[in-house]
Amino acid sequence: MQVISKIDALRQALWQHRLNGASIAFVPTMGNLHEGHLQLLDRAHEQADIVVASIFVNPLQFGPGEDFNGYPRTFENDQAKLTERGCHILFAPSVEEMYPETRISATIVKVPQLSGIHCGASRPGHFTGVATVVTKLFGIVQPDYAVFGLKDFQQFLVIKQLTEDLCLPVEIIGAPIARAESGLALSSRNGYLTAAELDQAATLYRCLADTRTSIDAGNLNFAELEAKAQSQLQAAGFTPDYFKVCCQQDLQPASTEDSELVIIAAAYMGKARLIDNLHFHRL
Ligand code: PAF
Repeated sequence: MQVISKIDALRQALWQHRLNGASIAFVPTMGNLHEGHLQLLDRAHEQADIVVASIFVNPLQFGPGEDFNGYPRTFENDQAKLTERGCHILFAPSVEEMYPETRISATIVKVPQLSGIHCGASRPGHFTGVATVVTKLFGIVQPDYAVFGLKDFQQFLVIKQLTEDLCLPVEIIGAPIARAESGLALSSRNGYLTAAELDQAATLYRCLADTRTSIDAGNLNFAELEAKAQSQLQAAGFTPDYFKVCCQQDLQPASTEDSELVIIAAAYMGKARLIDNLHFHRL
């Protein structure tokens, strides 16, 4: 695996592959890689000849008081995992390389309708930070395909929307959520949890699954189902941020007419803010 930290050097390396007619799939990450990230890499391998991953903890998507400084940086471990999983190129730029001081946040990419709700309401500016860095990374890597985990369903929609609106020639692929045996979605932030909290955290997935079961059984009183799940989360030691049954396409509250649904949730447990979702076609 080639490890490249400079934009020019990455472009040169990719130029050679493109000349050879190779297709390129890209997996952007913030590092601290777990099995969920590695499954994105597997998906990228299915799609293209050359797989490029990036590791960049993007300061623009962290708000004041969030965990930018404490975000786990495990570069050597990550490098070993990527090598083992057959990644061809790892792009790992510095903050200065991505945001030269004179140009920091000179241009931002904002996807207004999707960015102010749910996680965007609790983390103002977060999705603009994500949209801006992903657009920059797309400009640098110019991949044919880019693979994102569906755990962050809202982020996935934001990226699909910006790609469509800006006519970027990249196909966005969503990869299924990787889960522990307990059902807990794999996340770098699970590392903030104690062993006892990890056990309790699986309640988040159970609430999603129970809510889906109730909907499929014909209970379309979404407000009641949301309230029930929030109390179950509280009883398990979570401080819920939101738990909502939404329309998959735009994340607006679902109506009883909608059949493509997503139940999205975010909740605090100890030092971690966990997110998860279930998207499905209502029976
Ligand atoms: O999902 C993430 O890890 C990040 O938000 C991303 C897409 C790599 C942008 O920094």
